[in-house]
Amino acid sequence: MLHLEGLNAWYERSHVVQDVSLEVRRGEIVTLMGRNGAGKTTTLRSLMGLVSQRSGSMRFDGHDMLAAPVHARFHAGLAYVPEERRIVAGLTVRENLQLGLIASPNRHQVPRLIDEIAETFPRLRERLDQEATSMSGGEQQMLAIARAMMARPKMILLDEPSEGIMPLLVDEIFQLFTRMKQAGTTILLVEQNVERALRISDRAYILDQGRVVLCSTGHALLADTAVQARYCAV
Ligand SMILES: Nc1ncnc2c1ncn2[C@@H]1O[C@H](COP(=O)(O)OP(=O)(O)OP(=O)(O)O)[C@@H](O)[C@H]1O
Ligand SMILES: [Mg+2]
Repeated sequence: MLHLEGLNAWYERSHVVQDVSLEVRRGEIVTLMGRNGAGKTTTLRSLMGLVSQRSGSMRFDGHDMLAAPVHARFHAGLAYVPEERRIVAGLTVRENLQLGLIASPNRHQVPRLIDEIAETFPRLRERLDQEATSMSGGEQQMLAIARAMMARPKMILLDEPSEGIMPLLVDEIFQLFTRMKQAGTTILLVEQNVERALRISDRAYILDQGRVVLCSTGHALLADTAVQARYCAV
């Protein structure tokens, strides 16, 4: 589904992602881990076309995306949920969901898609007409994911979805990822909640100072506490 080779990214003169190659197969959950500042967010932003200084090659679902703008990636089936969520204040949950399709030719399907999304996200179903920013942080995170899912992406990039969320909702969010995977969505996840993420991941990559230092199965890394302590402590 995604084949990234030799990605480099810079902010001004600072070379923060260095020769990163990674692969995500159709239907997998893959986690990208690493300490603060390792380059995880920059890697996701580069995949979405949001970092202007970048090089390397990227194939997504058979398309060469090296030079593609953000909207072309979106239309090819790639979605991105940034860490800061960007829920729009003053709009309801339903209206925020509608925004997920504002740039899509499927706009006329909004009511049906909201019904479908509400099935997957029961917490949102009860709150469709509530002002979105009046919900808890975890509920807003679910909304951000649901809004990205409105476009029915083939693959979703999630940046630290469990950050700052109370434990009960963290459980729900991780269950949600498993359901999304079962429904056929491919997931690339950035998480500091390493143990939880590895438990649901097929494979994981560890980034350190902008480079991939390890790639393994979720299962093997879960057992490797020495590696976790070395590369994933916050
Ligand atoms: N907009 C920016 N301008 C300049 N430098 C940046 C910018 N964004 C990130 N950086 C730097 O790039 C490096 C990688 O940052 P990035 O946000 O990708 O790391 P991260 O692995 O996501 O970290 P965290 O776990 O803290 O979210 C860091 O040294 C960071 O300070
Ligand atoms: Mg980050």
